[in-house]
Amino acid sequence: MKRHLISAADLTRDDAVLILDTAEEMARVADRPIKKLPTLRGRTVCNLFFEDSTRTRISFEAAEKRLSADVINFAAKGSSVSKGESLKDTAQTLEAMGVDAVVIRHGASGAPYRLANSGWIDAPVINAGDGTHQHPTQALLDAFTMRRRLIGPDAGIGQDLSGKRITIVGDVLHSRVARSNVDLLHTLGAEVTLVAPPTLVPVGVETWPCEVSYDLDGVLPKSDAVMMLRVQRERMNAAFFPTEREYSRRYGLDGDRMARMPGHALVMHPGPMVRGMEITAEVADSGRCTAVEQVTNGVSIRMAVLYLLLGGNEPAVTNPRTEEK
Ligand code: NCD
Repeated sequence: MKRHLISAADLTRDDAVLILDTAEEMARVADRPIKKLPTLRGRTVCNLFFEDSTRTRISFEAAEKRLSADVINFAAKGSSVSKGESLKDTAQTLEAMGVDAVVIRHGASGAPYRLANSGWIDAPVINAGDGTHQHPTQALLDAFTMRRRLIGPDAGIGQDLSGKRITIVGDVLHSRVARSNVDLLHTLGAEVTLVAPPTLVPVGVETWPCEVSYDLDGVLPKSDAVMMLRVQRERMNAAFFPTEREYSRRYGLDGDRMARMPGHALVMHPGPMVRGMEITAEVADSGRCTAVEQVTNGVSIRMAVLYLLLGGNEPAVTNPRTEEK
């Protein structure tokens, strides 16, 4: 596995399966009365959030605390410093304080890559979502949820998602979740179909390892999981569809549409959901929707990633950075 986690495309099949298997072990910690492991005792992890987040930020923090790391939260929202300067200055401050890992979310695609390859900082960097580019831990928690539900927690160990048919629906153009999922699901052997209005399909999608369809009703009966995406209004500078009603009618998932899916098929959503837009309340609250389970699984996945990137299998005292302090 590489030193940083910047893109889902950087993961080999074996890396991804190792993370999913490690996350299964981490999930067992959540069932204990005391949900904590001493693994990252004495290590400091900084959560650097330049963009809004609820689930991802809380999830990383919970994962770090369950592994006994010291946690520094930095919410950069509202800073008047320009993005480049701010990132460099902040990185140098963190380096001076001796952080052992940085989790970064940034509105600019490529910011985590820049941080990891700049020489400003010597710690592993984990991308928690950059612009419209990548959100690798989201793709991993989605794959973990699919493997658990479609194969089983125990039967799934060591397995990938070969032959599973996954449909991703909505604002693919602005979605780092869609990009990361296409990369990871392909690596794991799944067949991915994207469904979106033509205006929300990215240029160059023909080079992606997936199919594209405009016929949601035709694709639903052939899906093992249907992942609904939020329309990312904050990233839009033009009208990409006539009205919200029109969007919901053609690309939203309601009870009638859900009935077209096979009985075992899952409805997934990374959150935040806009009920009434891409998903109705009936579907969001149904037993087939895994949105809440995805959040739970996110903690296990982030524990696994931190554990593997920080070499959590070694005792903390053998970490030279810790010994220097
Ligand atoms: C997503 C994101 O921020 O990329 N949410 C998440 O991390 N759970 C998707 C979204 O904002 O719609």
